[in-house]
Amino acid sequence: MPTLDELSTPLVLVDRTRVAANIRSMQAVCDAHRVELRPHIKTHKMVAVARQQLEAGARGLTCAKLGEAEAMLPSGVRSLFIAHSLVDVRLAPRLAAVAAQVPDLRLAATSEAQVVALAQLAARAGLKATVMMALDTGLGREGVRDLAAAQRLAGQIAASPHLTLAGFYTHEGHFYGVPPADLPAKAAAVVDQIIGVRDAVDRSLPVWPGCSVTARWMAATGRVECVRPGAYVFGDLHLTRVCRVMQPDEAALTVLATVIDRPEPGLALIDAGSKTFSSDRTADGIHGFVTDGRDLAVVRVNEEHGYVRGRDVDALRVGDRLSFEPAHVCTVVNLTDEVVVTEHGQFSTRWPVDARGCTR
Ligand SMILES: Cc1ncc(COP(=O)(O)O)c(C=O)c1O
Repeated sequence: MPTLDELSTPLVLVDRTRVAANIRSMQAVCDAHRVELRPHIKTHKMVAVARQQLEAGARGLTCAKLGEAEAMLPSGVRSLFIAHSLVDVRLAPRLAAVAAQVPDLRLAATSEAQVVALAQLAARAGLKATVMMALDTGLGREGVRDLAAAQRLAGQIAASPHLTLAGFYTHEGHFYGVPPADLPAKAAAVVDQIIGVRDAVDRSLPVWPGCSVTARWMAATGRVECVRPGAYVFGDLHLTRVCRVMQPDEAALTVLATVIDRPEPGLALIDAGSKTFSSDRTADGIHGFVTDGRDLAVVRVNEEHGYVRGRDVDALRVGDRLSFEPAHVCTVVNLTDEVVVTEHGQFSTRWPVDARGCTR
């Protein structure tokens, strides 16, 4: 086994103990309130992590793309929700193959136009597809905007021989911009909204909100049947420093990078740029923040360069290695073929990113 010191950077490191703790603690909140957990795998894209989530008690998995669903089949998942607007009949053979292996497969019904195409896809795949209706709770992406639209869509689904409505889902991505103090009131309003729509359409159906900012809070209300968070499994600056729903010492994924130059006072360049961190950053412009307590932030990226600034930058020397918590963990994982798993700071193993690049 190599030591971390022997490996070249940039490296994406995953702390095994922290991942396990994040999986356990989200599952514990859900179990305590009898709420199902169906984690979104878009964050980790790894069969190794999906297996841990299922073993801990997750009721199923959520994917964005059909390709992610295919990649997760080796996890043994029996209940899978593809939370994306599928419309392409070319997907039919692949969809049928996934449905043959997953007894409880659910698709997303996101608008009247999409449901026309989805019904054609289901027909071509030879399925009576189970669908979850998307409700928009403020992100302004997919999903019906009001009760009248929800009722119309429910009628359209009921009239289709190829679709069955099984519940409602939401994604509160806009909560990444909600000040922490406002979270309880705003999350309560969303729960009221989605339960109001559900009750008006069909009281027997479940509601499945999904977002790491709101998941614990919503699960703890016991008023929703399921939550579908993704990023909680690793955490990132958005969850620890912006929304403050996780502690910095719960962040399980870091980027290890090397200082490659000190071109001027106040600036260090590292060997990890947008091809490692992605271009995602916090609203105050930070792509990554150092994890050892010093004041060092990646404030700008080119493809293979990160620009590090901060109070402690002038103590850095070429060759120093720094570990950063990224701003947005999901896009970091999607840029690497494998992660290096550590235990107590030492190399433990590698996990492949099985669904890397599975955008189709
Ligand atoms: C449909 C859907 N559900 C759930 C999630 C998980 O949200 P989070 O990344 O906040 O955990 C996402 C994230 O993009 C999503 O798009």
